[in-house]
Amino acid sequence: MGFRDKFENAVHALTFNDVLLLPGWTTIEPSEAEVRSRATLGVELNVPFISSPMDTVTESEMAIALARHGGLGVLHRNCSTEQEVEMARNVKRAEALIIRDVVTVRPDLTVDDLLELMERHGIHGFPVVDERDSIVGIVTWRDFRLADRRLRVEDVMTKEVITAGEEITLEEAKEVLHEHRIEKLPIVDDAGRVTGLITMKDITLKGTYPSAVRDEQGRLICAAAVSPFDLDRARALDEYVDIIVTDVAHFHNRNCFDAAKKILDEVSAEVVVGNIGTYEAAEDCLSKLDGVAGLRVGIGSGSICSTSVVTRAGAPTLFATSQVADAVKECGSEVPIIADGGIRNPGDIAVALAVGASCAMMGNIFAGTSESPGRLVALEGRYYKEYYGMGSAAAQQKRYAQDRYSQPSKTISEGVEGWVPYRGSVSDIVAEFVGGLKAAMGYVGAQNVPEMWEKGRLALVTERGAQEISPHDIMLPGPKRGP
Ligand code: XMP
Repeated sequence: MGFRDKFENAVHALTFNDVLLLPGWTTIEPSEAEVRSRATLGVELNVPFISSPMDTVTESEMAIALARHGGLGVLHRNCSTEQEVEMARNVKRAEALIIRDVVTVRPDLTVDDLLELMERHGIHGFPVVDERDSIVGIVTWRDFRLADRRLRVEDVMTKEVITAGEEITLEEAKEVLHEHRIEKLPIVDDAGRVTGLITMKDITLKGTYPSAVRDEQGRLICAAAVSPFDLDRARALDEYVDIIVTDVAHFHNRNCFDAAKKILDEVSAEVVVGNIGTYEAAEDCLSKLDGVAGLRVGIGSGSICSTSVVTRAGAPTLFATSQVADAVKECGSEVPIIADGGIRNPGDIAVALAVGASCAMMGNIFAGTSESPGRLVALEGRYYKEYYGMGSAAAQQKRYAQDRYSQPSKTISEGVEGWVPYRGSVSDIVAEFVGGLKAAMGYVGAQNVPEMWEKGRLALVTERGAQEISPHDIMLPGPKRGP
């Protein structure tokens, strides 16, 4: 290719701001649109929203809230493997018909130890077991909250424990819990060893979140990020999570491919690879890697990204999604695409679906919710939450995420640090985004996500046109103050 051709054949890397969705003939009302969609080949979400693996966005609390409201949280990796595993365990323990990963205690621990365990695991009751792991009692918050901290578990525990066998049904468990006015029912095998735990809280929660996405054991669905080079972390997380997501800014790289092959070979969780941004990258992921269950797509569109400013390299999410979607189709694959970065409103997600995405990943939007780990601050009467890029100096100080970016990023940052407006709870955001997305689907005339792929058509907007399609020629009141 001649140098001139580079200009003449330059592709149009359009962004969300450059396009509109064209209204089409419709036979459905927005309320009839269905937003269920796949995050990976094997995991279907009730709402197509995924939170970014960033340490100001997704820890256990975000992952629990999103899974309860039908979406998915991807735990960040800017921490030790043990900390990330602990976050995943917390998500899996948050709800289950039978909790399998039961934390038990020995009779000779102290009340002080119990308080520490309670804090660490976020749980309020423990079966007590002897050295053969057979149950000898149960101790709950009620038993020890006012007790002398030096007392031993055996002094405060309930010794007459009501237990049940594996074959107990949900209805029977409810009856036992009610009849004995207890909150926790340990499940034991023939030798009296604890194999699980049923709690009243889990039974009650089941009815509270009808849209929740759960695994076969009734636990909330959970994903976690790993560096493609961190096989040990992937192995450690594999026991707890449903999906492992590689977390690197430019996955279309020989070393990343070689390393990811090992992860794909070894883990039983579904593996999403990324980020990628071009047709060729998607083609290579599908032809050179076995078992890819999802593609994370978009480079440089994130609200905290400075990658394209620093390097002039990038593949904006909308453009990248369309490229990857064509490659997936032409390879005869059905691997879902997660459009990642740059999403500010439900319309952006609608446009991403129109060019082939199955789900959208958001950092900025979820960073502003009460469930994100970032600090809440008041500035001049308004509330904000801390949000920074994983390539920013703030994130890199923690060192675990340094390899997300190329080698020079150890001296050059590829992300910025700042504050996003406080937006309320995850449930508010999910409701707002589902409402907006369904309205967009109503304009397109699409009943569901596959119909968005088929019927969503785009129109280009010029810079001057963009002014006309936003509120204009009116004086608007300033934003609301306070939370
Ligand atoms: P939004 O727009 O939702 O984008 O804030 C979140 C996505 O941005 C990516 N990400 C980064 N990209 N430098 C980058 O170039 C960074 O420091 C950075 N941190 C996160 C990531 O894909 C995330 O999901």
